[in-house]
Amino acid sequence: MTVHDNGTIMTTDTHTGSESFTDYVSARRVEIEAALDRVLPRPPVCPALVAEAMRYAVGSGGKRLRPILTLAAADVVASAARPASAAAVQEAWLQAMPAACAVELIHTYSLVHDDLPAMDNDNMRRGRPTLHVIYGDGLAILAGDGLLAEAFALLAHEPCDAGRPQLTERKLRVMGRVGQAVGAGGMLGGQAMDLEYTGRITAPHHPLPPLDADTLRDMHARKTGALIRAAATSGAIMAGATPAQVNAIDAFAGEIGLAFQIVDDILDVQGSSVDLGKTAGKDRATGKVTYPAMHGLDRSREMAADSIARAEHALVSAVLPSGHLMNIARWVVERRC
Ligand code: IPE
Ligand code: IPE
Ligand code: MG
Ligand code: MG
Ligand code: MG
Repeated sequence: MTVHDNGTIMTTDTHTGSESFTDYVSARRVEIEAALDRVLPRPPVCPALVAEAMRYAVGSGGKRLRPILTLAAADVVASAARPASAAAVQEAWLQAMPAACAVELIHTYSLVHDDLPAMDNDNMRRGRPTLHVIYGDGLAILAGDGLLAEAFALLAHEPCDAGRPQLTERKLRVMGRVGQAVGAGGMLGGQAMDLEYTGRITAPHHPLPPLDADTLRDMHARKTGALIRAAATSGAIMAGATPAQVNAIDAFAGEIGLAFQIVDDILDVQGSSVDLGKTAGKDRATGKVTYPAMHGLDRSREMAADSIARAEHALVSAVLPSGHLMNIARWVVERRC
């Protein structure tokens, strides 16, 4: 078992080629954090306070699971090409890195807004006071909006596609997918369902249908699964995946996205605030309908494991090498934070 700097506990350390998964995650994290630092706006492009608030949110302490998934998907597609080469994998990472950063910026925006008093009202995130606790609700809303907007600007501008129409076409497909994933039919819709079922929507509305198992699955697939799917498929598309490869990676990521939120619900019950870097026990205290609340802890764990089995099946059926994708899937269910 290996404990990473930011507290991630890995029970799996499977080697792919010559590099262990632990080394892979550490190396990609360093690259992603350097790239995030480069792309985040700073004065004089924007007011100093805005830059400071956005950097505080992106800060350190996030697992960076989504951007690592983006790069791992690019990696798998480049490795599946014949002839595969280390140079081709490097090129695929370079092309996928802006999408990896965009996904992390969007994920961070979603956390900033999720923590606001009008939503989950949390005062700790990534081991530090939440953004609105430090800067106030107004700037937290704006910094979240800024992260979302900067993500799309980045997707449009990078990688440079001058004279490379193939890259322009890939970037447009990625922008479309990411936009849909975080829009009304995806993350935003799922977050709205979460608010509605927690009794946080005040406008008069038609009576809510009961939150049954299918609706809970749908809510989790939207609020968390959709962005995780977009993270993985963006990497695949930027690396030049075939439609069949994109579909297989999409199916894989849909399963791990669901498992990710099931495990998040489980950790809210079983984890500690210190390990999680956010307040444990909030879901029960605020009456959230979660997997453990609906299905119990044991059944929830089984359901997360079933998702991972289906994720593996999606890769095997498409005859895709798993690369580090299955290591990421195991990380999703074995994590302690
Ligand atoms: C938390 O995501 C929000 C959910 C979708 C459950 P993460 O657990 O990936 O948060 P960070 O990025 O590591 O802080
Ligand atoms: C958040 O789900 C999903 C998002 C889109 C941010 P949660 O509300 O369960 O995430 P945490 O537990 O606060 O990280
Ligand atoms: Mg929430
Ligand atoms: Mg929350
Ligand atoms: Mg949670």
